[in-house]
Formats: sequence, C-alpha cells, structure tokens
Amino acid sequence: MTADELIKEFRNRFRREPEGVFFCPGRVNLIGEHIDYNGGSVMPCTISRGTYLAAGRNIDKTFRFQSMGFPATASLHVQSSYTKAGKDWFNYPLGVFHELLQEGHELPGMDLLFDGDLPIGAGLSSSASIEVLTAFAASELMGLNISRKDIALLAKKVENEFIGVSCGIMDQFTVALGQKNKALLLNCDTFVYEYLPFDTGEYQLVIINTNRKRALEESKYNERFAECGLALGALKKELSIKELCDLDIASFELNQELIHDPVLRRRALHVVTENARVGDATVALQTSDWLTFGKLLFASHQSLKELYEVTGKELDTIIDFCKEYKDCCGARMTGAGFGGCAIALVQKISFDDFASKLKLFYKKRTGYDADVFAAASGGAVTRI
Ligand code: GLA
Repeated sequence: MTADELIKEFRNRFRREPEGVFFCPGRVNLIGEHIDYNGGSVMPCTISRGTYLAAGRNIDKTFRFQSMGFPATASLHVQSSYTKAGKDWFNYPLGVFHELLQEGHELPGMDLLFDGDLPIGAGLSSSASIEVLTAFAASELMGLNISRKDIALLAKKVENEFIGVSCGIMDQFTVALGQKNKALLLNCDTFVYEYLPFDTGEYQLVIINTNRKRALEESKYNERFAECGLALGALKKELSIKELCDLDIASFELNQELIHDPVLRRRALHVVTENARVGDATVALQTSDWLTFGKLLFASHQSLKELYEVTGKELDTIIDFCKEYKDCCGARMTGAGFGGCAIALVQKISFDDFASKLKLFYKKRTGYDADVFAAASGGAVTRI
C-alpha cells in the first residue's frame, strides 16, 4: 500500500480529502528485555515496517475510525472521556483521544483511516505504533505542539490505563524517537538516551515471526510486572533502592536472600543480569564486535527462558536452530515473549540458506510456518 492508495481509499470511504498522511514504524529490541519497567537500560531500534494513517479533522464533532486491515469500524461523538470498548483495534486510537481530552485539550472530530504492514500482536510494537501515530497526527493537525517525548509518555499512559497492560516506556519512546541506522540506548529510569551506530557490516538483522498466537500475553506480562514489584518490595526492607536495576550483579548476590520466594529471586536475577548485558552489548556495538554482541543475545534468551520464563517452545526452537547455524552469531526473542518474534544476526551471504533451513526445522518441530525477513532499521513517527 502506497500513500497514494491510502489517500484514494480515504476519499472513497469519507468522501473528502485527508489533511495529512503519517507513518509510524514498529521496533525490535536488540537487548534489554523486561527491564524497562524496572528502571533498566534498553537497546531497541525501529524497523522499516509500521503503521500508516490518513487523517483529517471534521466539523461534525465525530471520531471515525476505519482500518484497511480490520473490518470493525467506529463512529463516536466527541465527548469528555471514553472507556475501552471490547477488544477491537480502534481502542488504541480511541485511548489516545481519551488521554488528550484528560489533558484538557479541546478536540474537534477527526476522520481516520489506518493501514500497516506490521504483523499484529507479534512483539514488533504494533500497539505502540498506532498509539504514537495517532497522538502525533492529532498534535500536527490540531496544532497541539506536543513533543515527541511527551507523545511517548501519553501513549504509555494509554497502554497502562486505557488498554490495561502494565508496559514500560521502551516501545513508545523508540517509535517516537528512533533514528535510521541507529540503535537507541535508553535509560528507562531517567529517560536519558543516546543513539548508537547500528551498522551491522557483513551481518544481516533478521526477524523471525513464530506465528504463534499470544493469547495469554497480557495477563502473563502483568504477572511478571507484579512479580518484579514483589521482589523489589522484599529488597527494599533492607536496601534503599528505587528500582531493581539500581542493583549491580554483585550487590544483588549479596542481598538476594532478602527475597524468600525462589521464583521471585529468579525473576530479579534475570533483571539485574540483563541490565548488565546491555552495558556489555553497548561496548560490543561501539567496537563492532559482533561475536561478543551475538553471544550476549544468546545469553539474554537463555535468561528469559530459564529465569524469567517468557519464551516457550516456538521461540526456543528458533533459538536452538540459530545456535547450531554456523553463520548466525546471535539470536534471541524480542519484545514481551510468549510467542511473537525473535531476532538473529546472520551473515548476509547466508541469509537465503538460513531462512529456508530454519523454516523447515521449525515446521517439523512445531507445526507452524515461520516468517523470516531481513530487517532494515527505520526512522521515527513522521508526516509523509
Ligand atoms: C513489551 C512492552 C515493553 C517491554 C517489553 C519487554 O514490548 O510493551 O514495555 O516491557 O515488552 O522488554
């Protein structure tokens, strides 16, 4: 779908011209998983796939939500607040308008037509993409002048309070502020960030979609969030820390007995070690040491599998294959887990061979078909 086709479809559906066309990418997280809500540092980058929006304000005080990918539509009169209605896709943009209204903005109505090429619910931040896209387009068309950082914070609030997922800031921040050919190194406690060069040289960044539905994902995600809160609470009885990631590995080891429940202790151990791996991965990236970077990806996956328990058979099968494939230097699940996508770094010349062998291996072991595609790092939300 090109911008021109989206505009044409907008005209067909709303019998008017759009005022603007916008794009927001998805993201992969290179390393630093399940630590953004523990004050850790994460290293994501945006990808070239994402969500598109053609939009225009209207004079009849109505929000009209339509999508090329989903049949459900909604047409809602502008009112002072909204609540989530069922599980339909339009709750994400609706939540954004709700939040803008809560912030005191006076909003006119708006006609919105979405499209996208991100697999939905596959861990590539389709929800952050549509939230940030809606807030960005609203800010542009209504002259609200909201900064990219504030757009990210608003979108996170939508996800936490309107949608009901206790996610951290990583996804929204990344798609609002990502840069082409760069990875973002974001401290999720202070929001201090920098861009790291992400030029993979002879390696190709590969995304592998397990195509495994993530049915329990939201509740399991919230469960991990709550477990980290309990582990932190136990440590705080003796230590003056604000977040789990305030501890380095040595101080965690010294104090881990404060957490009595072995499950909670394992969760906290993942968080603390993963945060340390982000530090090591930063050095590896800065020195283009792909072998070390790759080893850290494998170690991250192992920790997410054994300590944090968010991987599952499908993701583990992919990583098992990657470990044995000689031209793959590293791989791991990316995003929330429980299915969804994995990433791998594979020698460019071996990409086709890797993809075909992996698909066969995966199908045989799991019965699912995997999608394997080469990823290019994208930019940030923008008007096109
Ligand atoms: C989801 C959440 C993020 C982050 C990751 C796990 O993508 O939206 O905030 O917690 O899971 O790292």
